[in-house]
Order: sequence, then structure tokens, then C-alpha cells
Amino acid sequence: MFLTNRNAFFIFLGGTAISLAIFLWLTVDTHRQVDALTHAEKLSDQVVAGKHVWEKKNCNECHTILGFGVYYAPDMTRVYKRIGPAGIKAAVMSPEVTFASSIRKMPNLGVTEQENADLTAFLEWVGNIDNHDWPPQDTEEAMSASQRRLAGAGLSRGASAFQENCIRCHSLGGSGGSNGPALDSIGDKYNAGTISRLIAEPASVQPGSRMMAFPDISESDRQAIGEFLAKQGGGQ
Ligand code: HEC
Ligand code: HEC
Repeated sequence: MFLTNRNAFFIFLGGTAISLAIFLWLTVDTHRQVDALTHAEKLSDQVVAGKHVWEKKNCNECHTILGFGVYYAPDMTRVYKRIGPAGIKAAVMSPEVTFASSIRKMPNLGVTEQENADLTAFLEWVGNIDNHDWPPQDTEEAMSASQRRLAGAGLSRGASAFQENCIRCHSLGGSGGSNGPALDSIGDKYNAGTISRLIAEPASVQPGSRMMAFPDISESDRQAIGEFLAKQGGGQ
């Protein structure tokens, strides 16, 4: 018999030793890469100050970051890429306005302009960490089923540009973010050209608008989004 107690013991020992060696090697290898993966050279004083604001205000009480924290509110790992500095500012400095139409509430934590700038630098730095997409987010797999349907094949250019730039804050058909108003019947209010202008410079259409400007979206994409949205609520 090959599998005697004695042989089983050596198989156990050998297996454990090999697994342990692989585990230790992976651990050492990860630690050797940390500086490069996190862009440690960009860890400025402001980034560090932002981390301290994050701790002082206990943002982790509701949010996760790099997977750690509480699962009440959105994960912050990629928030800089998701909503940009203007979106962060709107969320952090005036949550009562930004999330007025949401059931979930983010409190106003009395963050100062300086603290917000530090937090933004911190969130930008975190957003650039190469975490091998773990925890997965803002990827196709992580989108809700209805968002995926919207993102699906065969979308018009306007629909996909809307998906790319706007859906994180605006919803259509109940799917999307709640930072901004739902746009289901925006076609009753504005035509394509007006929406295109609003995207580039919201205040030019709605003085005092809290929406961030998107001057970098090309004019033809803005027009395509405008045409897509103008059809909403038009009964089509
Ligand atoms: C008491 C819970 C709570 C605390 C504490 C909290 N937040 Fe929030 N935050 C929320 C909720 C809930 C939302 C989502 C609101 C919604 O979408 O309806 C949110 C949304 C956000 C958003 C927008 C996220 C997105 O993807 O649109 C940002 C940015 C943000 N919070 C930053 C912060 C920062 C920075 C702190 C610490 C200074 C903080 N939050 C503390 C509850 C909290
Ligand atoms: C970071 C969040 C955010 C993003 C991204 C965003 N918006 Fe907005 N949007 C808002 C907010 C907040 C308002 C409400 C502004 C106000 O009333 O002060 C708004 C208002 C609007 C309005 C006016 C709605 C009305 O009923 O009057 C339109 C139209 C609009 N957005 C279109 C877009 C389009 C198109 C995009 C993509 C190119 C976009 N938004 C991206 C936050 C956002």
C-alpha cells in the first residue's frame, strides 16, 4: 500500500511546506512592489493631510475605501475618476443639496475649503493606486443589470456618451445616480441644442447651477447626448 500513515504524513508535510513557500514568496513580492503600485513618489504632504481629514471626519463610518469600511455609502477607491473634483466638492461641502432627492443621506460634516482640497488630493492619489481592480468597481461586471442593459450593444452615440459621462449622477428609467435630477422628461424642458450648451457650461442655461461643467466633451458628443435626451419624455 502506497498511502500508509507514514506516507500521508510526508505528503502533508511536503504540501504544507510548498504552500508556505509560495505564500511567503508572494507576500515578499507584493511588498517589493507596493511603492510602484501606489505611486509612492506622489505621496505629497497634501495627500497625507487629506488622509488625516478622512480619519478625523471618520468617512469610513459609512464609506469603504480599498474595500475597508462600512458598506452604507459608495466605495471611495475610484471616486475621483467617477465624479471628479467638482463632484467630490458638491458631495462633501453641500451634501444636503446634492443628495436632496436621495433616500440615503450623507451628513454635512462641516468640512472646510482647505480640508476639502486635501481630501480631494488624497482621493486622487488613492484613485491612481494600481490595485489590480480589486475590489472590482466601475467595471462592466460591477454595474447593475439595468445599467448594463443601458450600456449594452447597439447604443446610439448619444446614449453611450450619456452612459459614460452622466449616468453616475442622473437616472433614466430609474437606473443611474441621484446626485442630479432624473432626466426622464428633460425633453419636455430643453431641446438638444440647449442640453448641449448646458453640458459645456451649466450656468449659461441655469444661472447658479450646481452641476459641474464638461468643457472637454467634444461638441459632437454633446450634441449627440442632447439629441438622445431630448427624445426622453417626448413620448418616443
Ligand atoms: C453618515 C454616513 C456618511 C458619512 C460619515 C460620510 N458619507 Fe459620504 N455619502 C454618504 C451617502 C449615503 C452617500 C450617497 C448618497 C446618495 O447617492 O444618495 C455619500 C456620497 C458621497 C460621495 C459621492 C459618491 C459618489 O460616488 O457619487 C462622496 C464623494 C462622499 N460621500 C464623500 C465623503 C467624505 C469625504 C466623507 C468624510 C469627510 C463622507 N463622505 C462621510 C454617507 C456618508
Ligand atoms: C457629478 C454629478 C453630475 C454629473 C456627472 C452630471 N450632472 Fe447634470 N446635474 C447635476 C446636478 C447636481 C444638477 C442640478 C443642478 C442645480 O439644479 O443646481 C444637474 C442638472 C442637470 C440638468 C438640468 C435638469 C433640469 O431638470 O433642469 C441637465 C439637463 C443635466 N444636468 C444634464 C447632464 C448631462 C447631459 C450630463 C453628462 C454630460 C450631466 N448632467 C452630468 C449633476 C451632475
